[in-house]
Amino acid sequence: MAYTGIQNKTAIVTGAGEGIGYAIVEALLKQGARVILNDVNPQLAKEAAKEVSEKFNGDCLAFAGDAGSVEFIDQMVDFALSSFGRIDFIIPNAGITLFGDFLEFTPESFNRVVQLNLQGAFFLVQRAAKEMIKLKSGGKVVLLSSQVGIRAYRNLTTYAMTKAALRMMAINLAFELDKHHININVVAPGATLTERTRKEQPDYEGIWGKLNPNGRVGRPEDIANTCLFLLSDEASHINGQTISVDGGWTTAGKYPEDLN
Ligand SMILES: NC(=O)c1ccc[n+]([C@@H]2O[C@H](COP(=O)([O-])OP(=O)(O)OC[C@H]3O[C@@H](n4cnc5c(N)ncnc54)[C@H](O)[C@@H]3O)[C@@H](O)[C@H]2O)c1
Repeated sequence: MAYTGIQNKTAIVTGAGEGIGYAIVEALLKQGARVILNDVNPQLAKEAAKEVSEKFNGDCLAFAGDAGSVEFIDQMVDFALSSFGRIDFIIPNAGITLFGDFLEFTPESFNRVVQLNLQGAFFLVQRAAKEMIKLKSGGKVVLLSSQVGIRAYRNLTTYAMTKAALRMMAINLAFELDKHHININVVAPGATLTERTRKEQPDYEGIWGKLNPNGRVGRPEDIANTCLFLLSDEASHINGQTISVDGGWTTAGKYPEDLN
C-alpha cells in the first residue's frame, strides 16, 4: 500500500546502518522520502546509504557519529537542513541493550544506556522540533521503545527504564507539541531478528519464535511498516500512542500450570 504524506518528505533515522533502522530507511526511500542515515560506524553508514539509494533510485545521505551526543545531534540536524532545507520526520532508532544484574550494574554501564537511548532521543527531537517550529512546517516523530519497556524482564532494568521513559516522552510531547502540528508516537517491538540478535543467538528465530502465538519472531520490515504508517497522513489522528509489534507475545496470560 502506498501511504500518503511520505513522498518528498525528509527524515533522519539514527542507528540505521543495519537492523530495524535500515529497514525504516528502506521503507521511507521506497515511498519517495529523502533520508539522512546515521550510524556510529562510518563504513556501515556509508555502505548502507549507497546501497539503499541505488536500490530505490533515491536520496539517502550518510552522516556517521554517536547519536547519543548532543553536540553530534546539532551537527546532524545542521547537515540535514543544509542538504534538504527542512526536516519532516525524526526517528531516533539507535539504542543499546546492556544486560546486567541490578546489584552489580555500574554507573558507566548505566550512563551508556541512558546517554544513547534517552538523551539521544530527547535532544534530537528537541532540536528538530525547534526547526520545525521555525519553518512552521509541522512534523512527525516515531520513537523506538520495546516490550521490555512495558513488562519486567530479568537483568534489563536500565534498558527497560529508558524504553518506558520514551513512552512517557511521547505522551508529554503529544500534548506539548500538538499546537506546532508535531505529532509523536512510539513503536514497541518484541523479539526481532536483526544482524545483532542473530549474532547474539544463532538460533534466535527457533528460540524466541516459540514465545509468540504466531510462532515466528519479528522482522525489521514488521517494525518499519508500522513506523511508515505512523508517519503517514493516514495516521494523523494518532498521537502519543504506543503500538506493540510483537506477534502477540505479550497478549498471553499464564495459568499456574503454565509455569511447570
Ligand atoms: N532487535 C530487537 O529485537 C529489538 C526489540 C525491541 C526494541 N528494539 C529497539 O529497536 C531499535 C533498533 O534495534 P536493532 O536491534 O535494530 O539495533 P542494533 O543493535 O542492531 O543497532 C543498529 C545500528 O545502530 C548502530 N549504533 C549503535 N550505537 C550507536 C550510536 N551511539 N549512534 C548511532 N548508531 C549507533 C549500530 O552500529 C548498528 O548498525 C533499538 O532502539 C532497540 O532498542 C530492538
